Amino acid sequence: MSAAVQPPSDRPTVLVVDFGAQYAQLIARRVREHHVYSEIVSHRVTVEEISRRAPVALVLSGGPKSVHVEGAPRLDPGIFDLGIPILGICYGAQLIAHQLGGEVGRGLRGEYGRASLEVLPGGAGGLLDGLPTRHDVWMSHFDAITKVPEGFLSTASTPDAPVAVLEDRTRRIWGVQFHPEVVHSPHGARIMERFLHDLAGCSPSWTMGSVIDEQVASIRAQIGTARAICGLSGGVDSSVAAALVHRAIGAQLTCVYVDTGLMRRGESEQVVETFRRSMGIELIHVDAGSRFFERLAGVTEPEAKRKVIGELFVRIFEEHTGGLTDAEFLVQGTLYPDVIESGGSDGTAAVIKSHHNVGGLPDDMRLTLCEPLRSLFKDEVRRLGHELGLPDEIVWRQPFPGPGLGVRIIGEVTPDKVATLQAADAIVRSEIRDAGLERDIWQAFAVLPDIRSVGVMGDERTYGHPVIIRAVTSDDAMTADWARLPYDLLERMASRIINEVPGINRVAYDITSKPPGTIEWE
Ligand code: XMP
Repeated sequence: MSAAVQPPSDRPTVLVVDFGAQYAQLIARRVREHHVYSEIVSHRVTVEEISRRAPVALVLSGGPKSVHVEGAPRLDPGIFDLGIPILGICYGAQLIAHQLGGEVGRGLRGEYGRASLEVLPGGAGGLLDGLPTRHDVWMSHFDAITKVPEGFLSTASTPDAPVAVLEDRTRRIWGVQFHPEVVHSPHGARIMERFLHDLAGCSPSWTMGSVIDEQVASIRAQIGTARAICGLSGGVDSSVAAALVHRAIGAQLTCVYVDTGLMRRGESEQVVETFRRSMGIELIHVDAGSRFFERLAGVTEPEAKRKVIGELFVRIFEEHTGGLTDAEFLVQGTLYPDVIESGGSDGTAAVIKSHHNVGGLPDDMRLTLCEPLRSLFKDEVRRLGHELGLPDEIVWRQPFPGPGLGVRIIGEVTPDKVATLQAADAIVRSEIRDAGLERDIWQAFAVLPDIRSVGVMGDERTYGHPVIIRAVTSDDAMTADWARLPYDLLERMASRIINEVPGINRVAYDITSKPPGTIEWE
């Protein structure tokens, strides 16, 4: 496996210098919301690297440390002299003050949460131009800038940050102590826009239409007249990657969909309908459910189940791509956060993710990776999918684990249990959709545990299985909170499941957050 499609270097780019991982991704997404492409770089970036990449602007992110702590990250000082417009946020603003000759006071009273910002008379024509003289901003700092460097103006303050905004309009360097990237700063978006479009002069030309054109050209350049394979999972990432590559190379793309029999109700049919019938993509649909059930017989231990499913998946994928001997490329839906989290965009990430995304493909496939979504965030991939004509059911599909319903059935996985769970799960999903909550909830699904309890239905005693409803909110699945679903919605789901799904006589709602729980049950 080797290199991925890299975004063309001539695209005007804002570089977000990362001083603390919590904030950088959010800032990068906000920049893109103003139609300027952005990427994240480490704070170790050198002046030579920045000169080479020639960004249209730099944003220095917030970070967890005080500039006075030993080993606190710094910006290579030469970068300040390149003439590139810079916006420092929180720690980034303090670094501007600290490195350019101002002062950052230590041990002052910190400020956390909402603070009232006063725009000072010198603010007109600057970063805060046109904003109300007093407005709320979101703060999270301990140290505060107490003296601006020479050439800078302080244009706003809060009770605990005498210099809440500093500007040097000649050198085109600005700093804000607060966080304009969070929704709790009501004018934050306007401030980002003012910096990007008006002060730094970045043109708002990065749109989903431009991404499609650019990626289509780049995929064609990479793949040429060769053949490519894409393993579809039914999820949004691989679906959008396939649709985009198909737009670029048409019939040179073959998709393979391994139906494990462990999908949610209707999903396999929809994959076939969308890709083969609506989009005219060559799709190999491998209906392998019976092979999976055969191998899963008697397997109850969660890790053993995952292993069985993963290994069989790879074997079947190989069986059905083995015939495509002329294929040279493997399309994958790797996203930008995967690239960042796997250690940056230096190429190592591609290898790590190639295993995860399609369920662990073998190294000896000798295919070159084509990863057209490598520079995009999830919400951008959804917008792209929409522009490419994919249906909402796929574009807005919630994350779904590779081993499918196999990890939502506790104990042995059998066709009957899958059918029961699919029926209960379909009710959960349709009620969530009807309540208009589908896009607010990270995942909502049903779990079938391996226990039974006594109940009474009509005049009959029952001894059936319960279904557990799991619904969580999350930003990235690393942490999650149980969703505060309305009681009447829970009641509707529960009574429909008990009435409509044979064998189920009780419904429980999982109120465990992550940590200590995980999102899935196995
Ligand atoms: P947990 O259960 O660890 O899940 O909190 C975190 C997120 O990952 C999904 N998940 C998987 N995704 N292959 C995948 O592609 C897997 O084996 C797998 N296991 C869990 C899960 O649905 C949640 O979104």
